[in-house]
Amino acid sequence: MSDGFSLSDALPAHNPGAPPPQGWQRPPGPGAFPAYPGYPGAYPGAPGPYPAPPGPHQGPPGPYPGGPPGPYPGGPHPGGAPGAGPYSGGPTAPFAEAPAAPLKVPYDLPLPAGLVPRMLITITGTVNPNPNRFSLDFKRGQDIAFHFNPRFKEDHKRVIVCNSMIHNNWGKEERTAPRFPFEPGTPFKLQVLCEGDHFKVAVNDAHLLQFNFREKKLNEITKLCIAGDITLTSVLTSMI
Ligand code: GAL
Repeated sequence: MSDGFSLSDALPAHNPGAPPPQGWQRPPGPGAFPAYPGYPGAYPGAPGPYPAPPGPHQGPPGPYPGGPPGPYPGGPHPGGAPGAGPYSGGPTAPFAEAPAAPLKVPYDLPLPAGLVPRMLITITGTVNPNPNRFSLDFKRGQDIAFHFNPRFKEDHKRVIVCNSMIHNNWGKEERTAPRFPFEPGTPFKLQVLCEGDHFKVAVNDAHLLQFNFREKKLNEITKLCIAGDITLTSVLTSMI
C-alpha cells in the first residue's frame, strides 16, 4: 500500500540503483512523519520552502516557524531546520506567534513559465469543518491538465477523483488513490511534483498517487487554481 511511501527515494541521486519508484518509500523510523536532514519538505534536494524561490506565494509566516519537518532528504539548502514542525511532535513552540492569515480561496497561483520536470508545489492548509470537496486544477488556458479532487461525501463515501478537462470535456476519471488522507478540520501538507511524464502527489509526506500526463505541453500549464472547502495557509513552488 502506498502508506509506506514517502518521497525520499524519488530521485536516483539519493538512492542509486533503486528501481523506478511508483512513489517514495518512507524509510523506517520512529514517528509518523520522520524528519530528514536538510530539507523541510518532501523532495530530495529541494530548497527550503519557507521561503523558497521561485514561488513567493505563501501566507505570512506563522504556522511553520523554522520550517516543517524534513521528511524528504535534501541538500544543504536554506529554508528551515529539520524537525521542529507541525508534524514532528518535537519540543517546539510552533504556535507561539499569531496564526498566519489564510490565503483567499479560491486561490490562483500563476506559473509564468509553466511547469517543468522537478518542479514541486507545496500547499499547506486545513480542511474546513463539514467539507464537501476541494480541488487543485493545473490549467492550460481553459483546459485542465490535472484536476485533483478529494470528495468527502460522494454517496456517503470519501474518494479522490483525478481527471483532465480538454475543450470543456472531462476525460476519464481516475479513482485509484489507495487511501483518503484528508480529515475535516485537520491541517494537511499537499505536494505535487511534476516529473517527466506524470505528476506525483504526496500528502503529509507520504506518497498518495500519480497521474500520467495527458496534456504534455508543460510550459503552457501556467496556472494552478485551488478551490473548495479548505483554509489555505501557504502555496509555494521550488525546484528539486
Ligand atoms: C464532475 C465535477 C467536476 C469535476 C469532474 C471530474 O462531475 O462536476 O467538478 O470534479 O467531475 O471528473
